[in-house]
Parts: sequence; C-alpha cells; structure tokens
Amino acid sequence: MKEIQEVVKNLTNRYGKNRESLLPILQGITEEQNYLSSEAMLEIARALDISAAEVYGTATFYSFLDTIPRGKYVIRVCRTIVCDMHGKKQIIKTLEDLLKIKVGETTHNGKFTLLETNCLGWCHKGPCILVNDDIYTEITPGKVNAIISEYRNK
Ligand code: FES
Repeated sequence: MKEIQEVVKNLTNRYGKNRESLLPILQGITEEQNYLSSEAMLEIARALDISAAEVYGTATFYSFLDTIPRGKYVIRVCRTIVCDMHGKKQIIKTLEDLLKIKVGETTHNGKFTLLETNCLGWCHKGPCILVNDDIYTEITPGKVNAIISEYRNK
C-alpha cells in the first residue's frame, strides 16, 4: 500500500487544494485504501489547510465514506420503506446466513462487509442492494446466492 502522503499528493495534484477538492479526495482515498484512516484525514487537513474536524465531519456525514476498515466488497442493503416492504428483511437474513456475519460486520477473510443504507434510487425495482458500485435490483434470496458466489470467485 502506498504511503498516505503520496496518495494525498496525487489526489491534490488531480483535484486541487481548494475546499471543494475535499469530497473527491475523500472518495479517491476510499477507492484506493478502502476506508479513511485517522492518518489519511490528518494528511488531507494538512494538505488542504483546513481543520481535521472539518475533514472528519465531512467523512462521517456521507454513508459511502467509511472511517473504519471494510471488506473488499461492501454490500449495502437498502433499508428504506419501499425495499423494506418488498422483502428487505429476508434479503438480510439470507446474506447473514451465507456470509456468517451480522449487519455492520466484516467476514474473517476480509472479503465482505454487510451494511444497511438509505434509498439507492431504484425504489420501483426493490428490494435493492449495492455491492461496491454495482447495483442489483429485484433481489430475491436466490439472486443473493448467485451474487455472493460470483464475488466469492472474483
Ligand atoms: S427504497 Fe430501496 S431503493 Fe429506494
């Protein structure tokens, strides 16, 4: 893994050092390192000359920015009302049984993290899940099995 100073430097070269650069830099670090460590947030604050509290506040405001380590594949199950009414609970139960973890946990091999999230914008095709950046709609327990098998083999 690259040193955090190098990662932040590359991102500030790409996005600049303005306050508006903060979000794309946070996203870039999340993509590269899978989460935002305290060290990374402090380095961003130094590079952009803003407070660490501002960086932390932004990082913890968005559910897609993680400040704790996550698995290689982060599965987010929509918990909002439409998906809830269309079987979200059964989807979560299936995922928990398959992965042998509960919501909020990561598998021992570091491959999967299971989370709930708010509406993913595909309500008309719920229930929905997101695996990293890939959306899966009209999910059934059978589809969950197939999706997890696919990612296990990646
Ligand atoms: S309620 Fe689940 S995608 Fe909108």
